Amino acid sequence: MKRTNTCGELTKKEIGKEATLCGWTHSRRDHGGIIFIDLRDRYGLTQIVFDPKDDKKAHSEAQHLSREDVIQVKGKVRARGEGLVNPKLKTGEIEIISNELNILNKAETPPLEVDDRIEVNEDMRLKYRYLDLRRPKMQDNLRVRHKTIKIVRDFYDKENFLEVETPILSKSTPEGARDYLVPSRVNPGKFFALPQSPQLFKQLLMVSGCDRYIQIAKCFRDEDLRADRQPEFTQIDVEMSFIDEEDIYEIHERLMKEIWKKMLNVNVKIPFKRIDYDEAMNKYGSDKPDLRFGLELVDVTKVMEKSDFQVFTNNIKSGGVVKAINVKKSSFSRKDIDEMIEFVKVYDAKGLAWAKYDGVKLESSIVKYFNEEVQKELIKKVGAEKDDLILFVSDHKHFIVNTALGALRVHLAKKLELIKPNMWEFAWVVDFPLVEYDENEQRHMAVHHPFTSPKDKDIPLLDSAPEKAKAKAYDLTLNGVELGGGSIRIHRPDVQSKIFKILGISEEDAQVKFGFLLEAFKYGSPPHGGIAFGIDRICALLTGNESIREVIAFPKTKKAESLLDGSPSEVDDKQLKELSIKLDMVKKKE
Ligand code: AMO
Repeated sequence: MKRTNTCGELTKKEIGKEATLCGWTHSRRDHGGIIFIDLRDRYGLTQIVFDPKDDKKAHSEAQHLSREDVIQVKGKVRARGEGLVNPKLKTGEIEIISNELNILNKAETPPLEVDDRIEVNEDMRLKYRYLDLRRPKMQDNLRVRHKTIKIVRDFYDKENFLEVETPILSKSTPEGARDYLVPSRVNPGKFFALPQSPQLFKQLLMVSGCDRYIQIAKCFRDEDLRADRQPEFTQIDVEMSFIDEEDIYEIHERLMKEIWKKMLNVNVKIPFKRIDYDEAMNKYGSDKPDLRFGLELVDVTKVMEKSDFQVFTNNIKSGGVVKAINVKKSSFSRKDIDEMIEFVKVYDAKGLAWAKYDGVKLESSIVKYFNEEVQKELIKKVGAEKDDLILFVSDHKHFIVNTALGALRVHLAKKLELIKPNMWEFAWVVDFPLVEYDENEQRHMAVHHPFTSPKDKDIPLLDSAPEKAKAKAYDLTLNGVELGGGSIRIHRPDVQSKIFKILGISEEDAQVKFGFLLEAFKYGSPPHGGIAFGIDRICALLTGNESIREVIAFPKTKKAESLLDGSPSEVDDKQLKELSIKLDMVKKKE
């Protein structure tokens, strides 16, 4: 046996016993001829003592140990001396007095320290991920991910779901991002797409009578990356037959409750709040509102219409809005406000106006454009009290006002420390629009995807005003993060053709892209719907991390590169030739 125990388990109970441990040399201290080693493995740290009085040979070998050397140590467990107990460690009351040391492998000086307290540049962490993963925090993130997935699988198993694997090499799915393509050697000029999600396959499984499907599914999307987006990520992917929205809500509220209970011992209150999309956008400027604090957006367009401030009135005349946030009891300086102005510009807002209320009147450079009546109405509308600061964004595009003020709202909440720890504000965002008009593409686009069903009562709107139709689509949000989203699907061919028409997808195009699904629907498709959750995002929230990279063993950088293995990388000409691919060398050089 290479070891009798791990480095995280010996306590007072084992005093006097012989033990053999293996692990990495975490640190070495030389105290007056006695050498102390902290030996580390995934389970913890154990202090090893090399005293020349006990074993000269082991002591002299221990003198040459350096960080990250892999060793095996044999010895007796004893109590630590008085005052030397470390209450922070499970093994903090004992140490091992060593009588044998075997060096299993020497380590070169590692390029980064295996220590949670030391901040290391992320590129270094990604390049040497195997060292970064040795840190206890990262080991814990891996553990949380493993346990969460286990809870998820057990949960669905009890609910009669079947886990079915769907292909990785398949046809492009209509999820809205760019596909990662894989050339086919045996079919020159043809490509597979890696799945952006198993969407079409899970719907086919419903046609197959699978009834309740779940998969822990790898998904691939070539899109702009952020802290919560990776080019390859993992979904809890679900589809169910003979259900409506309420069934999806009910089962997944129980799933979330179970995860939070088992992982954090937190009792999440169900049912979750529901907010309709319009309200989320109006009040929070976001379809994934953070409900842990106030600072709601107030539409002051009607009041500002009566002002003489042309920036506002011109925007209003061209169909725009003015919205405000009342920052209660604020003591922001001019410098702080200037910083906020720069902040909103990132979201394409042209500026940020402000006014302070001293309890009697408003103060700011734009107040001269507000007569007494406008001032009174404004104070009432935003509920201003003494020392409040009112911030305004206006634009002819509603979207810009909402995203800029929505982001500023979250920024201010962090700055003002309004977010209390351990708050878990789950909410379903419902009543999404079915389609939206894309100015760049000059056509309607599906807000969710082309198979999402409109609300029954809105079917007549499909002919007259499709942008007014609402979808049977839903997102689950938590603390300002979109955890998941899904919809009830269309199962009526006449409604599906209508939607394709609205989206500018010709019958021919539909046949080429998803003809196999439409064909399958001819042979008896049950009414069905589903949802998918980002497991990376769930684990990031459970571990208190902002970035999902922290809970992915080997993530990519923001430029979709792997610093660890150097991918993506060039390939041999021979490989390209086999695939019948010729590179455009001009582009390649660029
Ligand atoms: P959607 O595209 O909303 O829906 O994705 C579902 C959930 O997957 C996670 N997610 C991501 N996580 C990390 N990196 C990414 N690039 C990324 N993209 C998405 C999010 C998101 O809420 N097929 C539909 C689901 C359905 O209709 O059933 C779908 O994929 O947490």
